[in-house]
Amino acid sequence: MLLRKIGCLTFLFSVTWPGINLAMAENVTNIFDPLSTPAHAIHEISLLVLAICAGIFLVVGGMLTYTIFRFRQRPGDEGREPPQVYGSNQIELAWTVIPLLIVAVLTLVTARTIYDVQGALRPDDALDVTVVGRQWWWEIRYPGLGIVTANELHVPSGPPSRLRRTFLKLESADVAHSFWVPQLAGKTDLIPNRKNVMWIEPTEPGTYVGNCAEYCGVQHARMLLRVIVHSPGEFEKWVEAQRTPPVADPNTREGRRLFFTTSCVNCHAVGGSTARGTFGPDLTHLMSRETLGAGTVPNTPDMLRQWVRDPQALKAGCHMPDMQLTDHETDQIVAYLLTLK
Ligand code: CUA
Repeated sequence: MLLRKIGCLTFLFSVTWPGINLAMAENVTNIFDPLSTPAHAIHEISLLVLAICAGIFLVVGGMLTYTIFRFRQRPGDEGREPPQVYGSNQIELAWTVIPLLIVAVLTLVTARTIYDVQGALRPDDALDVTVVGRQWWWEIRYPGLGIVTANELHVPSGPPSRLRRTFLKLESADVAHSFWVPQLAGKTDLIPNRKNVMWIEPTEPGTYVGNCAEYCGVQHARMLLRVIVHSPGEFEKWVEAQRTPPVADPNTREGRRLFFTTSCVNCHAVGGSTARGTFGPDLTHLMSRETLGAGTVPNTPDMLRQWVRDPQALKAGCHMPDMQLTDHETDQIVAYLLTLK
């Protein structure tokens, strides 16, 4: 319990710094509360390592404390050297053999866990998702379902007897990133010109937060990630909604026209339209997402307006430029974006 608290606190600190994400701090996570098969395996081994390290700490610290008090200088000892003991085969043997045994045990247990996690087979009903790391957001593709989204990975869970696995292909469009959702699995890097693979098998529905765990440039800290685990049946509903193109609202025709005639469409795609840009996040169902700018701010109409007006003010250095829109243009474009549900 104490470990859980410490894990929570450190993560809360890292995620809420520099404060802008405070409103979203209810979803905190930590490595001591695993809710997915590979995370459980890693959790078990980390407890063993912690226990062994704690044992070593207690033995070494205890002997040091004992020695400090037992052999401290007493009145009358001044100027006299204590008896010097040279060589002891027993002690030499003990401090060679015991660490060797500890290292051997840790090596074997670690090898078994790595084998269990990396050697896992892909069941026939597994979901395949491709995650592309980008400065500084996550592109998420479901090749088998024809869905493209960003920053929020939706996956199914199953009843305890039949958990569903999601296999992730990890790629990078620019520099090295790292995919890490501590409650679901260990980290895996996303490396340019390389395909890495990892998998998750969540045991409980819910929202799990994670982040990029490899320094990738100025906005590395705002490359946050959410995994939404749906209960059986709910995932199919989500898929259905994502595959349905957004309904055009005649009241937002002006905003739509502005969106399609300014540079927006060079970088963004909207399903069922001529907008096919792939440099920025797919906006087809923008309003179904919880955050903007990969976890930078909550996705509310007000924040969306601020983002469209000047993304650089919210996430300095991000690749979306300040488009120098007037108040009127901003309002119209935001009104259109709000229909992308
Ligand atoms: Cu991407 Cu750090």
